[in-house]
Amino acid sequence: MAREVSVIAIDGPVAAGKTAVGRELARTLGFSYLDTGIMYRAITWLALKNGVPVEDETSLGELARTNPLGLVGDDGDQVLAAGHTLGPELRELSIDGNVSVVSKATPVRRELVAQQRQTAAKGKIVMIGRDIGTVVLPDADLKVYLTASAENRAQRRWQEMRERGQAVELMTVLSETLARDRTDSSREDSPLRPAQDAWELNTDGLDIEQVVQKIIDQVSSR
Ligand code: DC
Repeated sequence: MAREVSVIAIDGPVAAGKTAVGRELARTLGFSYLDTGIMYRAITWLALKNGVPVEDETSLGELARTNPLGLVGDDGDQVLAAGHTLGPELRELSIDGNVSVVSKATPVRRELVAQQRQTAAKGKIVMIGRDIGTVVLPDADLKVYLTASAENRAQRRWQEMRERGQAVELMTVLSETLARDRTDSSREDSPLRPAQDAWELNTDGLDIEQVVQKIIDQVSSR
């Protein structure tokens, strides 16, 4: 190995497999794992709970600033926000429907990005999101950009939702997935796009283990 890979950024659109792949990759390498999407979801949860309008960027930023988030456990699916341990509630439809708008707010991004950089400073971390390679950790040792067809991504989300007991039509999930892609890619602040030096991988037809193995091959070749 030419240089040690310690910080790995994984970005990509909704349901490209980032979460499952990132978590498994971190486990395999013995690294810590941070899903930054859960942080934007937690601020959205706090906004809805406190009646803060999701268009009010200043108040959202204040909410994020006064409620630094704590990470709970190793799986990256829980977060501590204002004394609440949040997990499954962050996957509810009300959060899915509002998180893209909340995450457009620059004051929120500024605050969460600072927290994410602080976490990464310890090294040996896999961080997943939309802007990790482009904005949060531009010096990451390895930047992976995962994609998959919209149909496969919608199918994956639909299955996850059904497993959680959420009854929803596949076509509805597909149109919501495309709508979130549009919002995430077209926002002014830190739009979703691959970093110039990212390694892109289409996960269509690959299972989690195969994707993880391909990333580990990349780690080994650095
Ligand atoms: O990955 P996810 O679906 O849990 O992300 C939820 C939302 O948060 C998504 O619509 C985009 C936003 N997000 C972001 O803007 N930047 C990140 N680093 C992570 C997520």
